[in-house]
Amino acid sequence: MHSALPEIDLDDVSTACLFLGRSLAAPLLISSMTGGTPAAGELNERLARVAQEYGLALALGSVRAAVENDSLAPTFQVRRWAPDVFLLCNLGAVQLNYGYGRDECLRAVEITGADALVLHLNPLQEAFQPSGNTRFAGLLRKIEALVRDFPVPVVVKEVGWGISGDIARQLVDCGVAAIDVAGAGGTSWSEIESLRMEPDDLRRKVAEDFRGWGIPTAEAIRQVRAECPSIPLIGSGGLRSGVDLAKALALGADIGGIALPFLKAAAVSEDALRHEVMRVLHGLRLAMFCIGAKNIPSLRCTNRLREEWTT
Ligand SMILES: Cc1cc2nc3c(=O)[nH]c(=O)nc-3n(C[C@H](O)[C@H](O)[C@H](O)COP(=O)(O)O)c2cc1C
Repeated sequence: MHSALPEIDLDDVSTACLFLGRSLAAPLLISSMTGGTPAAGELNERLARVAQEYGLALALGSVRAAVENDSLAPTFQVRRWAPDVFLLCNLGAVQLNYGYGRDECLRAVEITGADALVLHLNPLQEAFQPSGNTRFAGLLRKIEALVRDFPVPVVVKEVGWGISGDIARQLVDCGVAAIDVAGAGGTSWSEIESLRMEPDDLRRKVAEDFRGWGIPTAEAIRQVRAECPSIPLIGSGGLRSGVDLAKALALGADIGGIALPFLKAAAVSEDALRHEVMRVLHGLRLAMFCIGAKNIPSLRCTNRLREEWTT
């Protein structure tokens, strides 16, 4: 709810914060997306340069391709452009049921020089793929075993259908360091997979039936925060502006994540990406100003969050 009398100066608004013990200039993560081809390597370079410039956290796309083929490693190696960035590498959790273990996960960290490992949970995405990896049985215990003595924090995320409160609770009890809800409302893999299929393919129709599937990001953030009050939490899935980012934090996230808009901008140019990041960060500052939140802790505990109303 807008405050006509914020009682703070815009110049005094600070977006600096801490996440998993690391300082960020703003509570923003460029979510896991790419790597594995020369073009993807170039996108990662642009994402890395801009993350370094603006003090953001950066997650790489699944490093599996490089774990299995050394020659692809350079497309994930962004440290030279992002020496100070909180960098996360990414693997599919289900790989733990397909021969991956501690060594492969360590290799992902080693290849990338990452500060944390993200494991993504994507049962529906795998199920849509013709020969997807759909053996998800027993995964929780494997995640628990991996996390137990892994040298860097392990974050678990979805890919756009959301993590509910009960699932977050189980993951946190296993020792996972942070949760990224990656909820529904943004990039939709049911749409993407259906577009990849022939129009008369039965699986395409099924993918279309799942268009509305998933836990909306706001609901996922609420549920996870209610169930796990102190877990470091990333709110992501459909965040498209600084106002969305502010809402994610006011709902209970510690930082927000954005994927597709940053990839689209990075595909145009580094400058286009810079503009997109500045748009989000400036919007965040203005949203904080207009609710009288001088810093991230006051945004996170604001009492000015309301269900939207029509004007
Ligand atoms: C092109 C693209 C590639 C992605 N690749 C990965 C991936 O490798 N690993 C992963 O965990 N999530 C991946 N994601 C999912 C994103 O990290 C994010 O959770 C999802 O897109 C929702 O955020 P958004 O609505 O801001 O795009 C990808 C998303 C996009 C758009």
